[in-house]
Amino acid sequence: MVVEVRSRAYCEARQRAGVLEDGSVRLLRDAGVARRLDQQGLEHGGIYLQFAGQRHHIDFRELTGGRTVTVYAQTEVVKDLIAQRLADGGRVHFDVTGTDVDRLTSDRPVLRFTDAGGGGHEVSCDAIAGCDGFHGICRPAIPSRLLTVREREYPYAWLGILADVPPSTDELIYAHHRSGFALHSLRSLTVSRLYLQVDPDEPVANWPDARIWDELGRRFDLPGTGWALKQGPILDKSITPMRSFVSAPMRYGRLFLVGDAAHIVPPTGAKGLNLAMADVAVLAPALDALLRGDSRLADDYSDTCLNRVWRSTHFSWWMTTMLHRTPGADAMEAELQLAQLRYVVGSQAAATSLAENYTGYPGPYAPPPGTH
Ligand code: PHB
Repeated sequence: MVVEVRSRAYCEARQRAGVLEDGSVRLLRDAGVARRLDQQGLEHGGIYLQFAGQRHHIDFRELTGGRTVTVYAQTEVVKDLIAQRLADGGRVHFDVTGTDVDRLTSDRPVLRFTDAGGGGHEVSCDAIAGCDGFHGICRPAIPSRLLTVREREYPYAWLGILADVPPSTDELIYAHHRSGFALHSLRSLTVSRLYLQVDPDEPVANWPDARIWDELGRRFDLPGTGWALKQGPILDKSITPMRSFVSAPMRYGRLFLVGDAAHIVPPTGAKGLNLAMADVAVLAPALDALLRGDSRLADDYSDTCLNRVWRSTHFSWWMTTMLHRTPGADAMEAELQLAQLRYVVGSQAAATSLAENYTGYPGPYAPPPGTH
């Protein structure tokens, strides 16, 4: 049973991430929910890193032996999963209130909620997957003395826009600029997604459309090349704070935390959605085994996930601090960032490190083979 406090329309419209690792695409295919992804997803074999007025290509295929990422919006993944669950006869309750989890260390944990029609439910469960995000009720249901929390807030935020205009690039551009970071992403061949580093406490009202396009144009400018940023109507505009956060362990009795409920990464490495899907890939076989009386995979769930979580936490922190301007930073910071960027685009070893992290680190950080 799936219990969701938001409406279906909200879940299917909210703008979130947009880049799927190979492993996430495979997971969706194996689960039989990749029909639209395979039709509409855009495979990308690299990214651009822009700094000091030049744009450099990082070729993932060449550096990783063929691995790529796929641009397909999280919103679309959510639509596909809801549709499949309902088609399979699964129960999905939207617009619920009064959620509560209880008796988590027993064999029959309890989930209580009030449905959209006002009816009260008390569900006796085999297990509860806490997929309820950073602000959800599941992580706080674990006694705080059992949790270790590691957290870092960054002194900047992203202003994100969705624009009804074809992307001005064939692959994502991550731009370092003295005024701050900018990212050119996309949702389709006709819709662009762009981000600007802004102050975290700046109201979105400070950013009328013309100012956003001006600033984006400045940060992506490539003097003397004729390249120009195409502008179009802005369909959506929002500001997202940036933080790194890891709470461990990710399991308490028969409650398993998944995704943002346990960990948050800044968006710079496109890891948040992929980490959540990697958690699911570990949890599904662990729950299967647990219900057959074998608790070994469930006992390993937290450690298995946290290994990958910390790899991605480091990668996202590294990408973030390499590309953003810290307010009040001295000239030393910019020189160190530029030295690192020159190294990444100039050294095969450094570029490979970025490429294998961005496309999804394989090996011990991947879900165990054949388990989904
Ligand atoms: C996005 O398309 O929303 C996106 C892409 C790459 C990122 C973050 C967000 O690193």
